[in-house]
Amino acid sequence: MKNLRDQIENLRQEISAFQTQDLSQVEEFRIKYLGTKGLLKNLMGLLKEVAPEQKKEAGQLLNEFKQFTEAHYETLRAASTPKASAKDTPADLSLPGDAFPVGSRHPVTLMRNQIVSIFQRLGFAVAEGPEIEDDWHNFGALNLPAHHPARDMQDTFYIQQNPDWVLRTHTSSVQIREMEKGKLPIRMLMPGRVFRNETISARSHCFFHQIEGLYIDKNVSFADLKQTLYFFVQEMYGPQAKVRFRPSYFPFTEPSAEMDVSCFICDSKGCHVCKKTGWVEILGCGMVHPNVLTNCGIDPEQYSGFAFGMGVERPAMLKYGVNDLRLFSENDVRFLKQFTAAT
Ligand code: DAH
Repeated sequence: MKNLRDQIENLRQEISAFQTQDLSQVEEFRIKYLGTKGLLKNLMGLLKEVAPEQKKEAGQLLNEFKQFTEAHYETLRAASTPKASAKDTPADLSLPGDAFPVGSRHPVTLMRNQIVSIFQRLGFAVAEGPEIEDDWHNFGALNLPAHHPARDMQDTFYIQQNPDWVLRTHTSSVQIREMEKGKLPIRMLMPGRVFRNETISARSHCFFHQIEGLYIDKNVSFADLKQTLYFFVQEMYGPQAKVRFRPSYFPFTEPSAEMDVSCFICDSKGCHVCKKTGWVEILGCGMVHPNVLTNCGIDPEQYSGFAFGMGVERPAMLKYGVNDLRLFSENDVRFLKQFTAAT
């Protein structure tokens, strides 16, 4: 009993003298004195050696000492625990939430959607085709046989593994895929990305977007083509917009034309956009060549149709006042987040 009392007294002094604000030392303290193999457990073990009539007193001493040690540990711990910082304080649930940054549509998508929705009102459905095409769909079926000089009009990316594959140079390839399906009549709009081996600059890029249109039925005439495109221009550029058709050449249409719209930037007075002509070229078009119909298993004696193809970037640049084509593909959020138009 004397032994126990002495030991407790020594430890009490040792513990009282132990001061620290270092959390890891506090933990060492806990392990040393209060841990499962700690000194307190050790002392408790001595209880069975105490004479039976002194057990009660010894028990009380030990208990008191245990409480003392625990209290000292709690004091040390409180002093060494970092003070609760602002972020630990409970959130004020009545505050308004942080707004998530909401993405906006890409200007090319906005432009494409606007164009597509105008033709959808005329009953055109939307179709897409593959970006990697075979020679037949991109050239051959479109009346552009191998070595035809018109192939030089487009600088083509060929796929190394298979010389028959190309990155499509225009969305006209999707016309072929739609006609091949053999379901007539066809009234289709085909938006997509196209690729050409061109030097990247403010005015040209190695990929851009086009929208292709195709209408095949019995008795489709050039007048239908003109009226359809005229409707489009009125919807797109307003009732004051004028159009003009210039004869042109595309291997897959006969006759072929290019369509200009009166310059909506300067009201036809002449500016840098229309190069002082008062007109802006917006698309190529024509009556689908009989060879193209035949290539797709459609009888040109029974059916006729028109097609047109237009770029998306250029009208988007004009609409949003973008002066560098490269901005569309650089994905700079400072550029992209400006386009929150409802269209
Ligand atoms: N494919 C042509 C180009 O990329 C555009 C074009 C012209 C498409 C006339 C047509 C068309 O459907 O009839 O320049």
